[in-house]
Amino acid sequence: MRYGCRCCLILLIAVFIGSPLRSPAQVDVWSNGGVHPVTLKADADTATCTGCHSDIAKKKYVHTAIETGCKTCHQIQNEKGVTRVTLVAPVTQLCLTCHSLATNKVLHGPYKNGDCVVCHSPHSSDFRQHTWVAHQDICLGCHARARLKVNKKKKIVTTPWGVTLTFAQMTGWMFLNLDKTLTKNHPVEGHPISGPNTALGPKSPSITCMTCHNTHASNYTDMLIKTPPDPSQFLCMTCGLCLDCHSHLFP
Ligand code: HEC
Ligand code: HEC
Ligand code: HEC
Ligand code: HEC
Ligand code: HEC
Ligand code: HEC
Ligand code: HEC
Repeated sequence: MRYGCRCCLILLIAVFIGSPLRSPAQVDVWSNGGVHPVTLKADADTATCTGCHSDIAKKKYVHTAIETGCKTCHQIQNEKGVTRVTLVAPVTQLCLTCHSLATNKVLHGPYKNGDCVVCHSPHSSDFRQHTWVAHQDICLGCHARARLKVNKKKKIVTTPWGVTLTFAQMTGWMFLNLDKTLTKNHPVEGHPISGPNTALGPKSPSITCMTCHNTHASNYTDMLIKTPPDPSQFLCMTCGLCLDCHSHLFP
């Protein structure tokens, strides 16, 4: 508990069971050096590719970059009868050839490292902003002890949607001390992190990680969306974040 305000509020949280996780098959596609199982002509066009990879851009949310063709990001090389399909730039730099990195003070570790495809499909997915799973499940995938598979021997972690990262890529990561249902106990004990916003009433949007945090970057500590609360001041007037929902608590 970092906050002094232990309030005698009755907390009623509808048990909110998150939608089941989907696991798009994610494999380490480049471990064989990009050797393609089928011989391709170096000038093969997008229609040729989608002839076999028909479902790659068929999910609900398609990445706009797909419109310019597969070869915007992939290159084909033929050598001694072996076809290799690789990326036109290292995977941690590819996305940044079109998207620029935020210049905020605080950058989220995986974002800063250019590990964009850890959270986003480069092609398409059934979730907004073509993330592999729903946004809340993306966050819980690394920050909930119950969701992240940790292999101490190999020094790797695996997310529920099948992406593997090394401990080095995960430098500084921490688990939240959540309850079993992964719906409460952060940022203070008993606090909801999902479900209806009972503090503001049924018309307000449900609470998610993104209610209080940005996903990539922010100018405030802990990647918060607003001036963080000051734990040393109970009647802190700049604790914008908490006051959004709890104005009655801090007169
Ligand atoms: C005749 C069918 C066929 C065509 C045409 C084809 N692929 Fe593939 N491709 C496959 C199969 C089969 C695999 C292996 C299984 C899988 O990953 O789906 C594969 C795997 C891949 C992989 C995974 C890594 C690798 O090299 O194994 C990439 C990337 C890829 N294809 C890109 C392309 C691109 C880009 C094109 C168009 C230039 C293309 N493919 C055209 C059948 C095809
Ligand atoms: C915006 C860049 C981009 C475009 C455009 C793109 N790809 Fe990819 N593709 C990638 C990246 C990056 C990976 C590696 C993903 C990873 O490491 O998780 C990949 C992996 C793949 C794979 C292997 C993994 C998988 O998802 O099955 C296939 C097959 C593939 N691409 C086919 C295609 C085809 C076919 C097209 C054109 C319709 C295409 N790609 C267009 C960036 C792109
Ligand atoms: C060839 C240029 C290009 C490359 C390379 C590229 N993108 Fe994009 N991306 C675009 C364009 C264009 C848009 C649509 C305009 C926008 O929203 O900024 C877009 C949109 C997006 C969106 C927002 C989708 C939405 O619904 O709001 C995401 C997420 C994204 N890209 C992720 C990636 C990732 C991850 C990579 C690397 C695998 C990548 N992009 C590489 C051009 C690119
Ligand atoms: C930790 C997971 C994660 C990583 C890593 C990540 N993103 Fe995102 N990204 C998200 C989520 C979740 C959203 C949706 C944010 C929202 O709606 O508030 C998003 C939104 C976006 C958007 C659309 C909104 C915007 O900010 O323009 C783009 C484009 C994008 N990401 C590109 C990237 C690129 C490029 C990288 C790598 C440099 C990257 N992302 C790394 C999770 C991630
Ligand atoms: C791939 C694993 C991964 C995913 C997915 C992920 N995180 Fe993180 N997160 C990390 C790592 C590693 C750190 C520690 C490095 C750092 O400080 O950014 C971190 C740090 C943070 C921090 C503390 C930042 C700081 O400066 O103290 C916040 C807040 C955070 N993550 C929120 C989120 C949210 C919200 C999501 C979902 C959009 C999310 N994370 C998804 C790996 C992940
Ligand atoms: C009601 C607002 C709120 C919500 C919702 C929320 N957080 Fe936080 N989070 C905070 C505040 C405030 C802090 C900084 C105080 C602290 O460290 O306890 C913080 C800190 C963090 C940190 C850094 C923890 C550390 O020990 O340094 C991570 C990681 C994090 N949040 C991830 C998440 C994730 C993932 C979710 C969704 C499952 C989430 N948060 C939902 C307000 C929130
Ligand atoms: C998006 C709205 C929202 C934000 C922002 C928010 N809270 Fe809450 N908070 C709630 C809801 C909903 C509850 C549960 C029902 C209630 O108390 O009204 C709650 C409950 C609490 C409780 C009581 C927990 C219990 O066990 O009964 C405390 C203490 C609390 N919040 C403190 C904070 C602090 C400190 C912050 C700023 C870091 C904050 N809240 C930010 C919505 C929010």
